[in-house]
Amino acid sequence: MVGDNLKRLDGPIFITGHTGFKGSWLSLLLNHLGIGHFGYSLEAEVDSLYKRADLGRMSKGVVGDIRDLENLSKVIKDVRPSAVIHLAAQPLVLRSYQEPLETFQTNCIGTANVLKAAFETPSVESALVITTDKVYRNNNSGRRFVESDPLEGKDPYSASKVAAEAVCAAWQQISKISGGPKVLVARAGNVIGGGDFAKDRLIPDVIRAVTSGKTLEVRSPLATRPWQHVLDPLIGYLKYLEIGLTTSSQPSALNFGPTESSLTVSKVIEVASNLFKEKLSLHFDNFSSQAESQNLDLDSSRSNRILDWKPKWNQEDAIKRTIEWWGSALSGASSVIEECEKDVKYSISPS
Ligand SMILES: NC(=O)c1ccc[n+]([C@@H]2O[C@H](COP(=O)([O-])OP(=O)(O)OC[C@H]3O[C@@H](n4cnc5c(N)ncnc54)[C@H](O)[C@@H]3O)[C@@H](O)[C@H]2O)c1
Repeated sequence: MVGDNLKRLDGPIFITGHTGFKGSWLSLLLNHLGIGHFGYSLEAEVDSLYKRADLGRMSKGVVGDIRDLENLSKVIKDVRPSAVIHLAAQPLVLRSYQEPLETFQTNCIGTANVLKAAFETPSVESALVITTDKVYRNNNSGRRFVESDPLEGKDPYSASKVAAEAVCAAWQQISKISGGPKVLVARAGNVIGGGDFAKDRLIPDVIRAVTSGKTLEVRSPLATRPWQHVLDPLIGYLKYLEIGLTTSSQPSALNFGPTESSLTVSKVIEVASNLFKEKLSLHFDNFSSQAESQNLDLDSSRSNRILDWKPKWNQEDAIKRTIEWWGSALSGASSVIEECEKDVKYSISPS
């Protein structure tokens, strides 16, 4: 069962970014599996899964900035975790054009701070850093990227995550030469699932259009992305951390993407609007955005093989389930926690 080895750790898992979308689902998953954890993040957004699911009451954590090394080091030393999962980031491509320096400070220097603090805390055995599928040099051919492909980020967000990867490579070398925790890097695709409110992301934009009655402006309808249910890569991260803790040699980076080829933005819209029927009004911007890459696809056969990890949902089912989650949450038919619990139970059930 996923997480069995993590239950035996002496200390909790330290999660940066626990108030964000992935961090909230990770807290729900760890709570369900009975694995101790402690969060460190900025204040949760007013409208967020963290607030809607009342996770502040269910999980331990503090408000803190990863750019504040002194505070971060103090908290991590006090918590004495056995492992770190570093999710905290400025994760939005379009925002990174407006705030490039802040994006680099959080995503690159913030990652160096997290690794420095982890290396100075003797209880930490492994640190898993979450980057992205957008770190690969992308000529938009649609070829599926493998872990050994060259890295290059054109937009400020992708470039900041490539810089974070360089930081990880440096600390992997420090670990090899001077000892210290293992440093692992995970690259996943576009995650979807209930409770994402982020700006300029497709499913949250669909939900905002449905609830406000406004027309959804669809950017780059022919662009492709590896869509996946958020719980699929999160389970992959836990399995990766487990082999990092239990074996002496493990890959330094792994992809976690869907099994089938990436779907277009318009396919996602088609599946979503079939479920919402007449409620979704659409306007397609047929120009492909210069700000974001056109095609993106990941080859995850290494994590399939090494971790025995496979996504539980295909992309279409992940989209359908996400829309269904929102349908229940918006109508009040069941609580946010009940809907999340349903997904967690399904995601960890045997195939
Ligand atoms: N959502 C996706 O589709 C996707 C895809 C690939 C990779 N990722 C990566 O996964 C991670 C989590 O993404 P998400 O979608 O949950 O993002 P999110 O915006 O929902 O959450 C970001 C989290 O980071 C925290 N944070 C931001 N700046 C911080 C700072 N300076 N100090 C401390 N905490 C800070 C926020 O408080 C929040 O808890 C990020 O590293 C992101 O780059 C996400």
